[in-house]
Amino acid sequence: MSDLLKVETEDGIRILTVHRPDKLNALNAEVMAALEAALDAVRGDDSVGAVIVTGSGEKAFIAGADIGELSKLSPLEGREHARRGQAIVGKLETLGKPVIAAVNGYALGGGCELALACTIRIASENARFGQPEVKLGIIPGYGGSQRLARVVGEGRAMQLCLTAEQIDAAEAHRIGLVNKVVPVGQALAAAREMAKAINANGPVACRYVLEAVRRGLEMPLSEGLVFEATLFGLCAATSDMKEGMGAFLEKRPARFTGR
Ligand code: COA
Repeated sequence: MSDLLKVETEDGIRILTVHRPDKLNALNAEVMAALEAALDAVRGDDSVGAVIVTGSGEKAFIAGADIGELSKLSPLEGREHARRGQAIVGKLETLGKPVIAAVNGYALGGGCELALACTIRIASENARFGQPEVKLGIIPGYGGSQRLARVVGEGRAMQLCLTAEQIDAAEAHRIGLVNKVVPVGQALAAAREMAKAINANGPVACRYVLEAVRRGLEMPLSEGLVFEATLFGLCAATSDMKEGMGAFLEKRPARFTGR
C-alpha cells in the first residue's frame, strides 16, 4: 500500500487515482510499484468488471515519469527502467477488463503513454497531451513510440514525438487520441458512467471483445477473422449468451453471471 495511489471500488468499478499532486502526479518508482500491485490484485477479482485510472486534482492526470529519477540513470539502468515501465503499463492493456483513463489536465510523457495503454480515454476540456521526451534528450520509454502511432497514425505520432508539442483535448479528440471530451471536473464521472454501461453487458463477451480487438491488431486480417470466429463460437458455450438472448426474447433486462 502506498499513499501515492488511492484504490477504491464502487459498483464493481475499481478506481485507481495517482495521488502525488505536489509533483503533478509524476510517476516515480513508488507510484509504479503501487500501480503494479493494484493491477495484479484486480486481475483475478471477478467482482470488478472495469477499472478507471485517473490523477488527483484538476491540474494533472500524470505529468510524466519522474524526471528527478530519470536524470540519475546509467545506460543499462535506463534500458531496465524502460522495460519495467513498459511491463507495468502493459498490464493495463492485458488486464482482461476494460480500463478507462479519466484524463484531467496534463497527460505528458509517461502519462500520455499510460493513457495510451488504456482501453478507452475520456478527457476533460483542460486535458493536454504530449510526448515531450525529446526536450529532455530522450525518447518515450513506456511504449509511446509504438502505441501512439497505432492509435493516431504514423505522421501524427511522429509530429507529437519530434516536436514535443502539447495538444489540447479538442485536438486529441479530432485525431482519435481520446474517445470523448467532457467539461472540466467531469472526466471521472463520465468514466464511471461508461464503466457502468460496460458492466451491464455480458462479462465473458466483453473479455472476448478486448482480446479480439487487441490481439487482432497484431495479426493479419485473415488470422484476426479466424480468431474472431473462434471467440464468437465460444460465446455459444456460455450461460451469458443464453441469458442475454433469453432476456431479449422475454423483454426483460439480462442478469449475467460471467459464465
Ligand atoms: N517529474 C518530476 N517532477 C515533475 C514532473 C515530472 N515529470 N512534472 C512536474 N513536476 C513537478 C515540478 O518539478 C514541480 O515541483 P516543485 O514544485 O517541487 O518544483 C511541480 O511538479 C509542479 O510543476 P511546475 O513545473 O511548477 O508546474 P507548471 O504549471 O509550471 O508546469 C508542466 C506544468 C506540466 C508544463 C511542467 O511541470 C512540465 O513540463 N513537466 C514535465 C513534463 C515532462 O517533460 N514529462 C515527461 C517526462 S519523461
